[in-house]
Amino acid sequence: MYDVYEIRKLFPMLSKGQLMQGKPLVYLDNASTTFKPQCVIDACDKYYTDMTANSHRGDYDLLYNMDKAVAESRKTVARFVDCKPEEVVFTAGDTMALNMIAHGYGVKYLKPGDEIIVSVAEHASCILPWFRAAKETGAVIKYVDIDERGVITAENFAKVVSNKTKIVSLAHVGNVLGTINEIDEIIKIAHKYGALVVVDGAQSVPHLKTSFKELDADFLTFSAHKMCGPTGIGCLIGKYELLEKMEPLMAGGGMNAIFKKDGTIDYLLPPAKFEAGTNNLSGILGFKAAIEFIESLGIENIHQHDVEMVSYAIEKLKGHDNVIIYNPDAKNGILSFNLKGIFAQDEATLLNSKGIAVRSGEHCAKILDNYLGTKATCRMSTYLYTTKEEIDIFVENLLNGGDILDAYFS
Ligand code: ALA
Repeated sequence: MYDVYEIRKLFPMLSKGQLMQGKPLVYLDNASTTFKPQCVIDACDKYYTDMTANSHRGDYDLLYNMDKAVAESRKTVARFVDCKPEEVVFTAGDTMALNMIAHGYGVKYLKPGDEIIVSVAEHASCILPWFRAAKETGAVIKYVDIDERGVITAENFAKVVSNKTKIVSLAHVGNVLGTINEIDEIIKIAHKYGALVVVDGAQSVPHLKTSFKELDADFLTFSAHKMCGPTGIGCLIGKYELLEKMEPLMAGGGMNAIFKKDGTIDYLLPPAKFEAGTNNLSGILGFKAAIEFIESLGIENIHQHDVEMVSYAIEKLKGHDNVIIYNPDAKNGILSFNLKGIFAQDEATLLNSKGIAVRSGEHCAKILDNYLGTKATCRMSTYLYTTKEEIDIFVENLLNGGDILDAYFS
């Protein structure tokens, strides 16, 4: 049975009576990053206390054991997102993975006039690497419209895709509105036109069951820190034949078989080809522990819990005319809102004074403002340890805060 109170005991940030502004901490910024359970902290520590060695660079036991541990972590990631272990490239995070694809595929293969499809709802990491690739190659950026709910639909996608489309770069779940985009259908359509699809899984993989194989995406990226794992580690998943063709962004040790004085380099096979330099080994161990932790709870249960928390918040906020909810149909752990006439950062600052952590601003999605009708919103985001009591505290303070701010600004 899913017992959120028992789960909270496993997280030092939640079980030690953490205060913020002298009030019990209510952490509702999980779309930004998540807390880590003790098992993840222990797995990271183990690298430094018992296992320190490099990997792939020697012939002694300690290092061999590290190699085995990295291989196990790779297998764990592969099991979690249903791909082959050799399709898992460890990166510093989602942003690095997306930049690697834009460089290794975009800059390498795009030609003048080729088209790249993105949406206005994308996080900077899913769009700026493609702006740069377009500038360097003469390719053109096209936008698929989001619908009135903020969803990227297959219908809208069909209107913009063409034989010129070479790359489609979209989030599965938007980071501002938490909308679940029609990515399966979009991938099918894109493939009919021979385009490759890059799915930013930053907000989906930690919350929704994801099968790389079933999705049939060409690339999938995500970060460990948004799913109870450490920071500085994430993944680029790519179909193996595409990884073989892709140019590595980073060159250095551990990714080449041989290089010669004349400048020729023979790359190792993927995934090693993309992992130049020493990997974040502690992070890789922590990533495995985070996935095992999530598997032990069940990703479907986590999703259901998120939906329950956000639906509960929406229900409680409904009917309060001074609250604007930008995603009233939210089916994930994200709720975007504002208080009428109040600047988002003031709302977040007021909530902070009550011990409540939410994010305010543009959330790195800086061209979504036309859809939202505002530059800045507040975003509260839940995860597997959020409680109804925390939602109660959030709602009560938001509503009271509205009155306080109204009085202050009137
Ligand atoms: N990508 C993170 C967010 O949406 C940082 O907050």
